[in-house]
Amino acid sequence: MIKYPIGIFISGRGSNLKSIINASKDANFPGNIVLVFSDNPNSKGMKIALESNIDTFSIDINNFKDANSFEEEILRLIKPYNLELICLAGYMKILSKKFIDKFSGKIINIHPSLLPKYKGLNTHRRVIENMDTISGCTVHYVNENLDDGEIILQREISIDADDTENTLADKILKEEHIIYPEAIRLVLKK
Ligand code: GRF
Repeated sequence: MIKYPIGIFISGRGSNLKSIINASKDANFPGNIVLVFSDNPNSKGMKIALESNIDTFSIDINNFKDANSFEEEILRLIKPYNLELICLAGYMKILSKKFIDKFSGKIINIHPSLLPKYKGLNTHRRVIENMDTISGCTVHYVNENLDDGEIILQREISIDADDTENTLADKILKEEHIIYPEAIRLVLKK
């Protein structure tokens, strides 16, 4: 079966990266993680990628004159890999329209809420403050607006009365680790 080249962009902990690495070990997984890019060389996720013998790239935006030249360098680094899919997994920089257009329909992201609710940061805090009774996570295509593109897959969880921001984050993260690999399967098998 065809295994399409996937790149994963991270900034931090890398637990979703890890779940995708694990899923990709299945012979029937339609993707092969060929590179991990991080804007933070010291991120925990970079360690995970290195331990898994995946090519890694890390550059710091502070060493570039502007966001455009930072992205140009990313494009230069990833070009040889002919990526079929870029998975944002806790990548904290906003990609420009120019970048997104270069990979039209080929960039996906995971967000810890039931989009279109709670775009942006601090989702769990806002959910708890609003006393919602359900939340969840979403994998979606990336367009030029934050957390906005077409939804690929969602998973709901119920919120208990004693849930806090942290317990909710943990519950949802477990679901993220299930749906991100599932969403990649869906996208690459279409
Ligand atoms: C996840 O909660 C994801 O939904 C959000 O950033 C977090 C990344 O966590 N976009 P990790 O680095 O994959 O552990």
